Amino acid sequence: MDALIEAALAARENAHAPFSRFAVGAAIEDAAGRIHTGCNVENATYGLTICAERVAVFKAISEGARQFTRVAVAADTDRLTPPCGACRQILWEFCGDIELTLVNPRGAAETLRLKDLFPRPFDASFL
Ligand code: THU
Repeated sequence: MDALIEAALAARENAHAPFSRFAVGAAIEDAAGRIHTGCNVENATYGLTICAERVAVFKAISEGARQFTRVAVAADTDRLTPPCGACRQILWEFCGDIELTLVNPRGAAETLRLKDLFPRPFDASFL
């Protein structure tokens, strides 16, 4: 299996989701081929919860990575789980029109481009 997909599925096992019980994993590959992972981390206030995708992006940024090639998102749903709106914004700002693969633990996968999920984005080019 693709190492990026394996990494997203493995990261999902670390999800801290006691409130929703909805575990998500994400993995992002940087231009050097390094994989950065994330899982969702929930909070008792609910609103401070952070999604797997943003954890993966922020971890990668904090490690010095700046260019990214692919992202994988893993959740246990038959209708493959896409990033939420907030994560689409963050992915766009840090990764641009990146290749995005949605997977589940049963081997289902779909690959698309962020632009198709997030048309007409707002970003720093407007500022
Ligand atoms: N979640 C993610 O981590 N990524 C997504 O793409 C969708 C939603 C998390 C947030 C929350 O912890 C749980 O899934 C239910 O919304």
